[in-house]
Amino acid sequence: MAPPAPAGAHPTSAEPLSRSIFRKFLLMLCSLLTSLYVFYCLAERCQTLSGPVVGRLGGGKEAGASGRGVPAGGPGEPAAWPAAARGKRLLQVQPWPRRRPLAPREDGEVAAWEEEPPGLAGSPGGSGAGSSVAETPPGTLALLLDEGSKQLPQAIIIGVKKGGRRALLEFLRVHPDVRAVGAEPHFFDRSYDKGLAWRDLMPRTLEGQITMEKTPSYFVTREAPARISAMSKDTKLLVVVRDPVTRAVSDYTQTLSKRPDIPSFESLAFRNRTAGLVDRAWSAIQIGLYAEHLERWLRHFPARQLLFVSGERLVRDPAGELGRVQDFLGLKRIISDKHFYFNQTKGFPCLKKAEGSGRPHCLGKTKGRPHPEIDGQVLRRLRDFYRPFNRKFYQMTGHDFGWDG
Ligand code: A3P
Repeated sequence: MAPPAPAGAHPTSAEPLSRSIFRKFLLMLCSLLTSLYVFYCLAERCQTLSGPVVGRLGGGKEAGASGRGVPAGGPGEPAAWPAAARGKRLLQVQPWPRRRPLAPREDGEVAAWEEEPPGLAGSPGGSGAGSSVAETPPGTLALLLDEGSKQLPQAIIIGVKKGGRRALLEFLRVHPDVRAVGAEPHFFDRSYDKGLAWRDLMPRTLEGQITMEKTPSYFVTREAPARISAMSKDTKLLVVVRDPVTRAVSDYTQTLSKRPDIPSFESLAFRNRTAGLVDRAWSAIQIGLYAEHLERWLRHFPARQLLFVSGERLVRDPAGELGRVQDFLGLKRIISDKHFYFNQTKGFPCLKKAEGSGRPHCLGKTKGRPHPEIDGQVLRRLRDFYRPFNRKFYQMTGHDFGWDG
């Protein structure tokens, strides 16, 4: 039997109980503080806690003439992050320093296609993800913590439909200094009346990051050049172009997948098939008249502000094409061969690590789908039809895309 408690003392059972409650409370407090600290560290803020202010690295022009964060540089300055921007990052004791590992080693290793990573063979969609990459790009944590600010886009992928725009955007998003809207905002064609509240659609960006959007119909929208120029004459414009005949078939394939009852490609492509009279009013044909659309853009933008990405080369050599794009945008060349592998099943290049998920990622099923077979004579007639427009386009851009070979 237990001895009786001395007079005046608390009952023995109460003491361990309150102590255990207190201990549990302390434990909870400790784990809460630890979690907070870990979260803080994940956000890489630890570095700013006691970090010394570092001296300026060098002179140079301020990043982006517009002051909206487009790094200076261009085709002539491929790998240079503007010195001033670099210095600024260090000098400011950044509230939000670079959150992501930067360039993979640029030691030239792995130049060609790599073999499919194990576990992916047989899965046409790679990771199985859809055509839009996870919406957790560079600024996810910044967003959570309400960091960064929304900017109007400094670069826009303006076209063309079925050229390979999704591939370009998803590949570009791997870059830590690119933030892009996932969906197509259609601001300059459909929602212009809403005013620049449209900026709210943009992701937050940090200093030095580029805000991008893609809306393919801009390239063929009459009002778009003037409207974009009114927003900023410095906007950089990217157009993914592809052999207009293949593009037209791809366009038709997309419509057919949604409305299987539409007439055949052959009947839609001609106003008079016997006479070989192509129906250039049909949008699938019209979009491919690149030279005509480009003329309108050149009335509002100097040629140096437009970059034409080859849709064919984007498939054959995505890293090479992305190299040109990074130079054009004044970005450090970070996206390289090391980021891609060729998925045999899909028949297209895929990302080894998608932005946000870190897992291999191919574009979704609606990208790279088989086309219906089209009468060879029809295709030949269309090639003849497009030839003069293509030639003019090559002259205007100074680049032979090889569609008439
Ligand atoms: P197809 O589906 O006709 O083959 P957009 O994104 O502008 O709609 O373009 C779609 C086209 O992008 C596809 O047309 C496909 O050929 C091309 N493409 C380019 N790179 C690709 C990739 N890595 N994966 C899938 N499709 C790609």
